[in-house]
Amino acid sequence: MVDEVQASFDARATAYDANRRSLIPHFDEFYRIGVEALAYCDQSPRVLDLGGGTGLSTSFLLGRYPDARVTLLDFSNEMLAVARERFKDNPNIDFRVRDYRSFPFDERFDLVISGLSIHHLTADEKRELAVRVFGLLEPNGEFFNADLVSCEDERLEQEMHRQLQGFLRQGLSEDEVQRFVSSQRLDRPAPLESQLSHLRSAGFKVVECLYRHLIYGVFYAQK
Ligand SMILES: C[S@@+](CC[C@H](N)C(=O)[O-])C[C@H]1O[C@@H](n2cnc3c(N)ncnc32)[C@H](O)[C@@H]1O
Repeated sequence: MVDEVQASFDARATAYDANRRSLIPHFDEFYRIGVEALAYCDQSPRVLDLGGGTGLSTSFLLGRYPDARVTLLDFSNEMLAVARERFKDNPNIDFRVRDYRSFPFDERFDLVISGLSIHHLTADEKRELAVRVFGLLEPNGEFFNADLVSCEDERLEQEMHRQLQGFLRQGLSEDEVQRFVSSQRLDRPAPLESQLSHLRSAGFKVVECLYRHLIYGVFYAQK
């Protein structure tokens, strides 16, 4: 499963950024709401982007913190190659081709962010990752995860996908819609309550869902 996720992103890295706005309703709000909700007020936070990919989440973060020192961690070399090009003029961005479930960190971060990545993990891995993120943050450090969220009720889950496909068809060809739908077989989105509960159990003192629409959700936590 994991190798399949990595291979899938390696294969579509160069095309990845092109149609994101057609896949995510309220694209800007989805990527901005977590950034704007951060309490951190110094100019140059140390940031870890989990599954940073082509650097989309980091680009929104840099909109608010242009001097942030960011580590982009991703197990797809090809996705990070696009990010390297995107940030080639920014010396504060560091790239690591690794799996974030096992990467041994000896640093601490002010902020940990993630966009559309953690839903690839199993339920146990998601729970373990919340504990890891808590351990990686400085006191009062903040985490947000702009990701997928599922419904506990199967009928509603199908309905959210049906409504999403209506949105997809406004901006994509039928082939592109079918390609996106088939890429979803690698997704393991978790219900809202379990995502909140993993964060609470890890020890975070503030835990909120900031946004939810169709299959997309943004979660915030402060240590
Ligand atoms: C859908 S992309 C999102 C990229 C970017 N964060 C964004 O918002 O556009 C998901 C990324 O997570 C990476 N990824 C998934 N599981 C990972 C893991 N266990 N360790 C490192 N990277 C992972 C994939 O390689 C891919 O680049």
